[in-house]
Order: sequence, then C-alpha cells, then structure tokens
Amino acid sequence: MRSHENRYREKIFLRNVLRRADFQNTASWQLGQEQLDFLIAAGLNKDWVMADIGCGPLRLGCRAVEYLEGGHYYGLDINADALELGKGILARLNVTGDNYTLVATDSFDFGGLSRPLDVAFSNSLFSHLSEDRIRLCLANLRDHLKPGASYYSTLFLLDDEAPLEMRHRWPYRGKVITTKPDRNPFHYRPGDIRALATAAGYAMEIVAAYHPIQTMVKFTKQNPDAGRNVE
Ligand SMILES: C[S@@+](CC[C@H](N)C(=O)[O-])C[C@H]1O[C@@H](n2cnc3c(N)ncnc32)[C@H](O)[C@@H]1O
Repeated sequence: MRSHENRYREKIFLRNVLRRADFQNTASWQLGQEQLDFLIAAGLNKDWVMADIGCGPLRLGCRAVEYLEGGHYYGLDINADALELGKGILARLNVTGDNYTLVATDSFDFGGLSRPLDVAFSNSLFSHLSEDRIRLCLANLRDHLKPGASYYSTLFLLDDEAPLEMRHRWPYRGKVITTKPDRNPFHYRPGDIRALATAAGYAMEIVAAYHPIQTMVKFTKQNPDAGRNVE
C-alpha cells in the first residue's frame, strides 16, 4: 500500500475520538446511531448477518452488536488499536466476544467470516481509499455476500462533469475538508464508481442517507448471468 493512501489520517480519526474522555457523549459518536437507523430503514433485521468494513472503534458496531443476534456482526479495520477500543466499549456494556468478530486486515481479507452476509456497510471508508483499494474491497467482498445482497458505502462524490484534477472543498462542522482525485481524502465521480462496480459484479445506485457531506452508494451483488442473452 502506498504510504499516502492511508494510515496517517486513520490514526487521526482514532485520536480525534479519544481526545475527549466522554467521547461516547459527543455529536460525532451519535452518528453511529444514524448509521444503524439507516440500515434498519434499508431492511436490517435482527437475524441478518452484517459486515462493517472500516468499522473503526465501533461507533456503529457497539450499537449493531446489541441489535443483532449473537455472532451476526463482523467488524473489519486496518487499525488494530481502533478495534481494541471498540472491544473495551463492548466489554463495558457486558457484551462478550462470542457475540461479534473483529478482524484487523490491510487487504480486505474476509476469510475469517464464517457466515454469508445479508448486508455490508462502510461509513467514510472509500473517502480514504484509492481506486485500486476500492476495486480490491469490492472484489474480495463479493463472494461473501448472499445472492442479491447489498453493500452500502459512503464517499465524496462530485458531478460526472466535474474536472477530476480539481480539489474540492467541503465545509463541515466549522472546518473545511479538501478532497483530491489522487490523494487521501479522495473524491470520485459517479461514472468512475459505476465502472468499478460493474467490473466487480455489482449494480450501483445512489441512495438518500444521513451523511451531511458524503454520498451513500448502494452496490448490489449481481447474478453472474445477469444481462446475458438467453437463447
Ligand atoms: C473515518 S474512519 C470511519 C470509522 C467508522 N466507519 C465510523 O464511521 O465510525 C475510517 C476508518 O476506515 C479504516 N480504514 C482505512 N483504510 C482501511 C482499509 N484499507 N481497510 C480497512 N479499514 C480501513 C480506518 O482505520 C478508520 O477506522
């Protein structure tokens, strides 16, 4: 993995979370509830199996684990420290380790998932990923999704007409996030993401969601025969 792609900003996310001892009372932490509400509105049931890719310190995960049946939550992240923090939060909620699985991986390795997935989800993961990494994530995930299951993922999305070399400024909570086409944080155009999705065997759709500045994209696993002419 090229150094500019990742670790720096991801550690910053964790550091920001930890800056306040009462981080679980912050507005930012509450975004985890909005993520869970979004998934429930999209059909998430207690008996569904889900993967939270780039789950961080379990802002969504600590709620999803309590909502889902035991063992139905998988959280994956490149940052093992974030997963440890999440484990600690769950322990304080008296949730034991057999109710969830956390995987530290820098290569979207879903090999540790023992159940097929009804849904996968990422909040603010693709905003930190290059096109190559998104391609790998979609490719590795596909075989673990049940037929017709969807993967919801937020990202910074420009218009298709936007010049790709442009830096884009996104005002957010009194600050400005500047995204770039070739550097973390990344922005994309719908056509680029659609091409990646199609090549990896998904249909792509933009859906309404909770995120104030990122767009939610729904990737639905396609039957390999979809679109082929049947004689
Ligand atoms: C902005 S944080 C969002 C965390 C979490 N989804 C949330 O909303 O609280 C982005 C997360 O993606 C993780 N991440 C970045 N690159 C990754 C990769 N290649 N594989 C897995 N996780 C990654 C980071 O470690 C970080 O926890």
